[in-house]
Amino acid sequence: MDQTPIVDLGAYGPDFTKNPYPYYARLRAQGPAHHARLPDGQEVWLVVGHEAARTALADPRLNKDWRSAGAGGSEDIDESPLFTNMLDVDPPHHTRLRKLVAREFTARRVEALRPRVQQITDALLDAMLAAPAGRADLVEALAFPLPLTIICELLGVPAMDRETFHAWSNEIVAPTGPEAVHQAVRTMTDYLVELIEQKRRTPGEDLLSALIRTSDEDGDQLSRDELVGMAFLLLVAGHETTVNLISTGVRALLQHPAQLAALRADGSLLDNAVEEMLRYDGPVEMCTWRFTSEPVEIGGTVLPAKASVLVVLASASRDPERFTAADDFDITREPRGHMAFGHGIHFCLGAPLARLQARIAIGSLLERCPDLALDCAADSLTWRGGRLFRGTVDLPVRWTQQLVERG
Ligand code: HEM
Repeated sequence: MDQTPIVDLGAYGPDFTKNPYPYYARLRAQGPAHHARLPDGQEVWLVVGHEAARTALADPRLNKDWRSAGAGGSEDIDESPLFTNMLDVDPPHHTRLRKLVAREFTARRVEALRPRVQQITDALLDAMLAAPAGRADLVEALAFPLPLTIICELLGVPAMDRETFHAWSNEIVAPTGPEAVHQAVRTMTDYLVELIEQKRRTPGEDLLSALIRTSDEDGDQLSRDELVGMAFLLLVAGHETTVNLISTGVRALLQHPAQLAALRADGSLLDNAVEEMLRYDGPVEMCTWRFTSEPVEIGGTVLPAKASVLVVLASASRDPERFTAADDFDITREPRGHMAFGHGIHFCLGAPLARLQARIAIGSLLERCPDLALDCAADSLTWRGGRLFRGTVDLPVRWTQQLVERG
């Protein structure tokens, strides 16, 4: 029987959203896993230590399938094919889905996107820098439209549908209310079913058409519902996260002038700087839900059977047991081992695409704006809702000088 007092996250207040790191540091100091209550009253186990997070994410007794864990709740969500995607199922179902998508979503397909990512970035920066006042919201101007355009083009979502699609996606990842989320799930499902039918009739060069065609050596293929779930996962995971990497990463640089100067002085630090952005303040604060199939010991604490578990990636990546001076933003450190893309069998499938976009977007932005600065007090920014993703709604920036074209 667990005797430790339950941690009440609801009592932490709005500061916890702005800067959760001191809260996680206090929890980590007390132990790597904690019984907690979320602001909505749900009880959960939080895994906050780096070693414990890796252990938990590699433990086959922590399952993802919330249906078999009895964690569903409402019929249309329980039955929607959106949520039978790879991230919501366990082996052998997960193994099969991941194998089929990996055949098509290859390193070569990602690398082939490089010129297009650069082209879109250049066009977005041209438009941003044309602003007469030398001011813009970086989220609206670059961090949001770049990944949304890329993931939609990759999957073959028509340009005119992208804004509506984003609105549904946003509602599903950070719901504003039960009716709104149910409505978003229904319309998104209908939309994807129709899109897949259309691509079946007239296939294109896009990834969705390739996923419809693909089959493994045994002739196994994705079913209609599996295609809907896969398209949903790729589209949502593909843009809701990368927007935060670009905006939060730029914010970290602008708030640390010595680091920014070091990067401007030596462009070869860019790849490492992006890894440090992922470690220091990554786009995914907590992994998606997991459920224990039996009692599981993590870092000396026993989690009971049928417990809900949230692995806190933001905390694991700041664990001083793993990273020296973990709260310092240092683009020259060795950030390997950060947890921003998760760990284990559900490790992010889109990590190479996210890195490609962040490197091009941030590298080009710094090149074109030699005196880029924040245009607001850092603590006045509005944070996005929900605890899954971590990022601000906007990021006001200003500049007085600009390079018209990339050098
Ligand atoms: C900086 C950007 C990104 C971050 C920080 C990120 C982070 C993550 C994390 C933490 C997970 C594991 C979640 C868990 O285990 O609960 C994950 C899974 C996944 N991500 Fe990403 N992601 C990013 C971008 C992308 C992109 C661009 C795509 C697609 C194009 C993508 C597709 C996926 C998929 C399909 C999974 C599920 C893999 C599986 O279940 O086997 N992600 N991501």
